[in-house]
Amino acid sequence: MPAEGVQLKPQDHILTFEEIERLTRVFVQLGVNKLRLTGGEPLVRKDVDQLIATLGSIEGLKTFAITTNGLLLPKKLRRLKESGINLINISLDTLKADKFEFITRRKGFDIVMNAIDLALELGYQPLKVNCVVMRNFNDNELADFVSLTRDKPVEIRFIEYMPFDGNGWNDNRFMSYQDMISMIEEKHPKLERLQDKPNDTSKTYHVPGYAGRVGFITSMSEQFCGSCNRLRITADGNLKVCLFGKAEISLRDAMRDGATDEELVSIIDAAVHRKKAAHAGMYNIAQSENRPMILIGG
Ligand SMILES: C[S@@+](CC[C@H](N)C(=O)[O-])C[C@H]1O[C@@H](n2cnc3c(N)ncnc32)[C@H](O)[C@@H]1O
Repeated sequence: MPAEGVQLKPQDHILTFEEIERLTRVFVQLGVNKLRLTGGEPLVRKDVDQLIATLGSIEGLKTFAITTNGLLLPKKLRRLKESGINLINISLDTLKADKFEFITRRKGFDIVMNAIDLALELGYQPLKVNCVVMRNFNDNELADFVSLTRDKPVEIRFIEYMPFDGNGWNDNRFMSYQDMISMIEEKHPKLERLQDKPNDTSKTYHVPGYAGRVGFITSMSEQFCGSCNRLRITADGNLKVCLFGKAEISLRDAMRDGATDEELVSIIDAAVHRKKAAHAGMYNIAQSENRPMILIGG
């Protein structure tokens, strides 16, 4: 959340639980079998437990994931598991409590570390930990994150810092995946590449003998648009076929104007066919207009 906050949308601009459920069913009928709730912070939405229970019961969903800052997980995790959440990503950009407080503007480092342990205890494996890497900010912690995988079966996902509206991105702060690997290898020379699945967004590695793994999300230095099959729906109901593209189409308005499921499918189909072969590259993305990350969700 930016220091100055974000302008909140009127409640009626946001998809209702019924609309979210309807869209999920439409996408599942089209063959989507993985759903991720993100944000903002998904766990602060009022009555989110009820939404998760409803979505978790939709037949055909194989993976039901959530990306969270982890702060509410110790309280909510058992219930989330019962409701069908079977994959968790926790965001954690530092292993130092004071830096955590600086980045997030709140205390909570211990809570997040406890959340990681609780999730492992409850059988979440892999448990993904998202770390956005910024040069001269947390790059000196890369090797420590890898060391964390020695005993914990977590998957640390080092994410290249991406430009979004208002996030102050510049190429001095950017660190490519190749540079991350070189830095990690100074302390972990045995780092070894593993085989990825066809639509994976990360390049996975491990240190032989360690319990966990590390992945690199190389969206800027080595884009993988050709195999990206992600679609995003914003809280206000816009379908976004590319994280880095401004193009959006309102499924909320279509539903509120009385569209049938077949009509929704036609809109989705046309949008997906307009998906570009590749994004425009980090310098062009940095110049172009898009939503801030907080209004997309990652
Ligand atoms: C925007 S957060 C939203 C979900 C939730 N509130 C959380 O903290 O995980 C989703 C993911 O996007 C990542 N992210 C945010 N800004 C980013 C940026 N500029 N470049 C790359 N990843 C980013 C975060 O690290 C996080 O893992």
